[in-house]
Amino acid sequence: MEIIIHPNAEDAAEMAERIITNLIVTNPQAVLGLATGSTPLRLYQRLAAKGLDWSGITSFNLDEYLGIGAQHPQSYSAFMQENLFRHVNIGVKNIHLPDGMAVDPETHCQAYEEKIHAAGGIDLQLLGIGTDGHIGFNEPSSSLSSRTRIKTLTARTRRDNARFFGSEREVPYHVITMGIGTILESRTVLLLATGENKAEAVAGAVEGALTSMNPASALQLHRKAILCLDEAAASKLQRRDYYHWVFDNKPAWQRISPN
Ligand code: PGA
Repeated sequence: MEIIIHPNAEDAAEMAERIITNLIVTNPQAVLGLATGSTPLRLYQRLAAKGLDWSGITSFNLDEYLGIGAQHPQSYSAFMQENLFRHVNIGVKNIHLPDGMAVDPETHCQAYEEKIHAAGGIDLQLLGIGTDGHIGFNEPSSSLSSRTRIKTLTARTRRDNARFFGSEREVPYHVITMGIGTILESRTVLLLATGENKAEAVAGAVEGALTSMNPASALQLHRKAILCLDEAAASKLQRRDYYHWVFDNKPAWQRISPN
């Protein structure tokens, strides 16, 4: 795991933007795994302002609420349109999200996996982290080898996400999410976490035991997991000084150059 700690959320977003920009520039046909939520908003604003060529990029989003359609303002499809896709020249046919209104969700989940495979796999998967350690919507106790499937949200996640809906009552109970096994197969994982409320989940994921009780701890198994944190999200890490030291002493060839 590469732990990069930034003074604030803006700097963390800037680093994530540099990593993604670098991928798009060096591989204009890249397959990106994308995430929703409050955390990636700064990153998406930065990417949108960058004027990159997205025409060859393919995207797969992590998850979608079950039972709400793409036109619903709180669907992740609508979120992505509003916050990223309408600002860049990505081809409509290259955009993939699970369909929350799929008639046969199980077959749909299987087909989603097959589409990722047919696209050559995900080059870089962007992740947020839930206050309970979830990645995608893989809630605690999710199988570490799970694939895209239907999950039931915890009461805590429904409460956390109520801010996007009129009230907690309106938050769906079920979702379709890529599995932890799906996420682990992406070639690079970039987890962005900001704010004090993520500190405990981040500490468990990085320095705790590998356990399905903190699904993000599965990233300890990933060959190339980069965690971009702000100081608040990093505040419960015991070895914070070491992560700073490692970053400050990187050889020049390993540094991500500004674009
Ligand atoms: P947030 O959600 O960015 O809105 O905090 C993160 C997540 O649940 O993965």
